Amino acid sequence: MIRFVLVVALLFSPLLPAKEPSSAQRPPGAVISSGNHLATDAGHEILAKGGNAFDAAVAVSAALSVVEPTSSGIGGGGFFLLRDARTGKDVFVDARETAPASASPAVYLNASGELDRDKAENGPTSAGIPGLPAALVHVAAKYGRLPLSVSLAPAIRLARDGFEIYPRMAIYYEERREVMERFAGTRKVYLADGDPPEVGEILLQPELAHTLEWLAKHGFDGFYRGEIANAMVKDVNKYGGAWTHADLSSYTVKEREPIRIKYRDWDIVTAPPPSSGGVVLAEILQVLEGWDLTKLEEPQRVHLIVEAMRRAYRDRGLYLGDPDFVKMPIERLTSDYYASGLRASILPDKATPSSMLPMGNPPNEGVNTTHFSIIDAEGNLAGVTQTVNLAYGSGMVVDGGGFLLNDEMDDFALQAGTPNAYGVIGFDANAVAPGRRMLSSMSPSFMVGNDKIAVLGAKGGSRIITMTLLGMLGIEQGMSPEQIAAMPRFHHQYLPDRISFEPGALSPATITALEAMGHKMAPSAEPWTFYLHAAEWDRSTNILRGGADPRNPPGSATVVLKKVEAKK
Ligand code: GLY
Repeated sequence: MIRFVLVVALLFSPLLPAKEPSSAQRPPGAVISSGNHLATDAGHEILAKGGNAFDAAVAVSAALSVVEPTSSGIGGGGFFLLRDARTGKDVFVDARETAPASASPAVYLNASGELDRDKAENGPTSAGIPGLPAALVHVAAKYGRLPLSVSLAPAIRLARDGFEIYPRMAIYYEERREVMERFAGTRKVYLADGDPPEVGEILLQPELAHTLEWLAKHGFDGFYRGEIANAMVKDVNKYGGAWTHADLSSYTVKEREPIRIKYRDWDIVTAPPPSSGGVVLAEILQVLEGWDLTKLEEPQRVHLIVEAMRRAYRDRGLYLGDPDFVKMPIERLTSDYYASGLRASILPDKATPSSMLPMGNPPNEGVNTTHFSIIDAEGNLAGVTQTVNLAYGSGMVVDGGGFLLNDEMDDFALQAGTPNAYGVIGFDANAVAPGRRMLSSMSPSFMVGNDKIAVLGAKGGSRIITMTLLGMLGIEQGMSPEQIAAMPRFHHQYLPDRISFEPGALSPATITALEAMGHKMAPSAEPWTFYLHAAEWDRSTNILRGGADPRNPPGSATVVLKKVEAKK
């Protein structure tokens, strides 16, 4: 309760006037916030070796791939949002997985024409062609200063020497055990001592260490051609998938222009398609800009935020997909005039049933993603969100490669062309097809204000976007990264038509008032297992801060200050 009062008071207290920062100003050190302290340390180790935020991003990404296999890995994909402090240029590196050439909706249907969830979620049919290794090579070569052999060294060490298994790993293993133990490669890693992983045991991943070394030595070809590619094609096809060498060797990361909007005094830079995050965030923020949220009572404020969420998630399911295949009205969806129209459709004191809005597909994303945020001592920014989709991805470790394949194919609308909940058959922007990237919610974002610069993002499937949104509203109202990481959250995603919320997110009076407006309330008994990681540099005070989600104990946010040479 105390936390709730603090959150609400800070979330909606007035902003202090901004001060002019000096353009030549540099941060006093570096801050990294990630889902595991070993990965945070890996990033600082690389900074101490002379790397920049982009080298550190490579190191943290690879280390998370080793120590957080429930969430992400080199058998998966991710998005890197980077800002070069020298040029002020932002770039979005899209390392989303792609569908193999063999992909089609028919692969995922059973004999009665229904979606076969096992094929969608488990084993090789559920896996897209991995993108993360290509991103590590690309980011290191184009934006980093250090060779991959240096920035991957901490991850290689963690894979070879091992690390202590923590509760989430053991719990999720039990949940996914039946699937994981179908595959020889998985049994080799996780049953090495004859029984499932237990908290406190050391997990050794020698094959993964070898694969990372091969990547460090041979770059793109070390993963997408040669012995590791052979192992992937062999194992995927052995267990009923259909990958070719061409699927792997033709994989490319894409550099894309981020989504940019102005929200009050802040420049927001965020993820473009194939992430839905930036468009949805832009829609919600621009709708909300029409009201002064600080002047509203909590029920009214939450109602308006929820109605903006509802409308933006509806559009997500209707319009968004892979930009290389689908024409999307991004300019319209992210425009002021579109936001005005949405705002006008919101009743001040009554929920709009989602069934009254034109049809869109509900989101369907696995929640085992991870996000990290970095600001280095030069002011470079890196916000990276990466995933294997469900816990331990497809459950299949490539025998001879030592890494889990993702199950990201389930992020496509696999039943495109079949009637949705309203019996409507429509074109689906997120339909599965060879070479396509599946729609994501991953939303690495920057906020640049008069004084403060923040990097933030989250794990949580479709909740990633609303978690990031609430974090942005919090930063805008003066909350610290620690506070936005800890704050209890609420969420609406169009369908199912309900407000889900964590303990402490809404007061009892607000819950009653929202119900009276027609909202269906879905409280969670426990805090969510979804995490936000943020970093912030306040240029007016020259203070760096990081916030790691306290719901995730292995996470950490640490600031390392620059050494100041003593005067002789
Ligand atoms: N698989 C989770 C996401 O891409 O958003």
